[in-house]
Amino acid sequence: MRPSRFTRIVTIERFIMDQEHLHPEATGELSNLLYDIALAAKVINSHVRMAGLADILGAAGPVNVQGEIVQKLDQFANETIKDSLLHAGRVAVVASEEDPEPIAPPADYPIGKYVVLFDPLDGSSNIDVNMSIGSIFAIHRRVTDGRGPGLLRDCLQPGSAQVAAGYVLYGSSTMLVYTTGHGVHGFTYDSTIGEFLLSHPDVRTPAVGACYSVNEGNFPHWSPEVQTLVRRFKGLDERYPAKTARYTGSLVADFHRNLLVGGVFCYPPDAKSPQGKLRLLYECAPLAFICEQAGGYASDGTGPILDIVPTALHQRSPLFVGSVTDVKLAEATIAGRAP
Ligand code: AHG
Ligand code: MN
Ligand code: MN
Repeated sequence: MRPSRFTRIVTIERFIMDQEHLHPEATGELSNLLYDIALAAKVINSHVRMAGLADILGAAGPVNVQGEIVQKLDQFANETIKDSLLHAGRVAVVASEEDPEPIAPPADYPIGKYVVLFDPLDGSSNIDVNMSIGSIFAIHRRVTDGRGPGLLRDCLQPGSAQVAAGYVLYGSSTMLVYTTGHGVHGFTYDSTIGEFLLSHPDVRTPAVGACYSVNEGNFPHWSPEVQTLVRRFKGLDERYPAKTARYTGSLVADFHRNLLVGGVFCYPPDAKSPQGKLRLLYECAPLAFICEQAGGYASDGTGPILDIVPTALHQRSPLFVGSVTDVKLAEATIAGRAP
C-alpha cells in the first residue's frame, strides 16, 4: 500500500484531551487550565507579531517589583494571562513576576484548585530589537484548605510539587512547549488556522551539549569556581571538549535551543547579584521541571532546583540547566572538583 500523503494533524486541544483520557480520575480542570493558557498565548502572540507596527513599543515608565523598567508589551502579556486565568474558575490564586503580591479571582468568580505562577514576557529587553521572547508558567495544586481564595503559602511550593509547566516562544515561529510530568511536548502555532499543532512529541535532550549560554560580560564578577567552569566549557582545560557559545538574553530562547540540540544555560551568582538574576518561581523551577522531563537536569550550582523550598514570592536563584553531563560538570566545578 502506498503511504498516505497526509500526516495526522494533532491540535493542542486534541492532544491534551487524549492525555487526560489516560487518567480516568482526571476531572478535566487541568486540561481546561492549559486551554486557558494556550488562548492567552494566542492573544499575546498576535500582539507580539504586531509589535513593530502598533504603538505598543518602548518603556511604559513604571518600574516593576524587581526594579526593572517595564515595557508595554510586558504589561499587555501580564494583563492577558491574568484575565484568562482569573475568570475561568480553574485557579485559587496566581502570581506574576510583574505583580508584588499573589492575586486571587475577583469576589464573584468561582475558585478553582490550581495555582499558576508566571513570567508573562521573558526577554523583554529584546522586544524593541525584534528578537525572540517568551512566556513561562508553572502550575501547582493549592495546598491550603478550604474553598476560599488561595494564599501566599499556595505559591511557595518547591518545584518538585509542580503538576505542569511550560513556555511559549515567540520566535521565528511561535511554539508552546509543556509537560504534565509525562514527557515534554512541543506545538507550533499555525496562524492561518489559529491552532497550536503537535510538532515536537516527546522531546528528549542530549546528555551532552555542544553549546553553553551565559552572559560572559559578567566574567569579572564571578567566583573563581564559575570562571573555571566557563574556561572548561571553552575547552581551555584540555580535559573538556570545547563548546560553542550561544546567548541571546532571552532565557526562553536560549533554553529552547539547548533543549532541542543539547547545551547548558547558566545564570550564575555574581558580585552584583549574589543569588543570580533569575526568579525561582517564574523562571527557574518551571524550566527545571521541563528540562528534567526531557532527560536533562537543573541545579542552582549546589543541588537540584526542584528541591528548593521557596520562602519569598520573588526569590531569585542561580540557574544551571540543560544537558545532564554539563550541569553535573557545573556542580562539580563549583564544589571545587572535577567530575
Ligand atoms: P525578564 O525579561 O523576564 O526580566 O527576563 C530577562 C532575563 C532572561 O530572559 C535572560 O536570560 C536574562 O534576563 C538576561 O540577563 P542579562 O542581560 O543579565 O544577561
Ligand atoms: Mn524572565
Ligand atoms: Mn518578564
